[in-house]
Amino acid sequence: MSQIRLMKPYIGFDEVEAEFREVFESGIFTRGQHVEAFRSELAAYTGAPHAFLTTSATASLWVCLKLLGIGPGDEVIVSDFSFPASANVVEDLGARPVFADVCTETFNMRPDALEALIGPRTKAVMYVDALGNPTGITEIKRICSAKGIPLIEDAACAIGSSENGVRCGAIADLTCFSFHPRKLISTGEGGGITTHSDEWAQWLTTKLAHGANGMKGVALDFVDYGYNFRLSELQAVMGRKQLAKINAIVNERNAVRDSYIEQLGALGFVAQKVGEGVTYNVQSMVFRVPEGCDRDRLILDLRGKVETTIGTYALSAGSYFAGKYKDVQPVAAKLQESTITLPCYTGLEVDAVCSAIRGVLA
Ligand SMILES: Cc1ncc(COP(=O)(O)O)c(C=O)c1O
Repeated sequence: MSQIRLMKPYIGFDEVEAEFREVFESGIFTRGQHVEAFRSELAAYTGAPHAFLTTSATASLWVCLKLLGIGPGDEVIVSDFSFPASANVVEDLGARPVFADVCTETFNMRPDALEALIGPRTKAVMYVDALGNPTGITEIKRICSAKGIPLIEDAACAIGSSENGVRCGAIADLTCFSFHPRKLISTGEGGGITTHSDEWAQWLTTKLAHGANGMKGVALDFVDYGYNFRLSELQAVMGRKQLAKINAIVNERNAVRDSYIEQLGALGFVAQKVGEGVTYNVQSMVFRVPEGCDRDRLILDLRGKVETTIGTYALSAGSYFAGKYKDVQPVAAKLQESTITLPCYTGLEVDAVCSAIRGVLA
């Protein structure tokens, strides 16, 4: 029996074949109709007035920090349970990532941890929807708004999720998405940014076009300096196809989640908690393992049968950040050691995964 994979793509070649052929025949591989359409469909889906496409969530986060003018001497408060990209971009700009510990159950930034860390150098808060779960972001937004601190949502994993009926993309001041293959929408690599701000949208329009905005006679008018983090037409075709069926993908993943909880709950596995009023896209099916269970042993013993991985990382405990800032956050550090990600996709044989787990724990 071949190993059960962690994730399978939600797109087949047959779905894109016709559009890919058109792109090849037209020769328009960039800045064409599909990029424009994907951009407006992303805005319409999330409910944010402005959307932009980029090469990755990392590029999106970096650009948003540049937009806010983050640099040396500044602090950005970052959820500690995430992928290192969330803090790397802050560090890269010479600012200090200040790690906020998370809730044991939801894995998301705790409001009390955030409030304790806000100080005169705080220039932004970066809230991460841990594994795609936005539980608690509305409260974090309320705190940031009251203090006048911009909120960047690292929604790399959270396309399709919402809290209190507002989708990720329309909650924070700036939201960054990833379209990496582990995500619900994959363009191979890719990312997006959404915002409510007309002023920031102007800045992004110019900066993401090498600094050009409008024409000067027959030539581009480079009103600023800028960057290129563009997604291509072929990638946009892929993104559009998956965005069109995202609600069905979310429902199917929740059915897989329910089945896991029913079977593994009995063994003492505890799923990441999803709050009232939250639609969770189940980007990653993460459990805290039962007390006394050796998580690393479990991952190793499942190898060859079921592909699994750790939940995600305590950023403050990574060798680089722990060495530099010596500020390890206890809850995130414990979660890094005690969580496991199991396969999740439509058509997954959940029973087979659960019986493999029962087998290795027996
Ligand atoms: C929370 C979080 N932020 C950022 C990233 C980086 O995304 P990308 O690979 O699109 O740069 C990831 C990737 O998994 C992530 O999980």
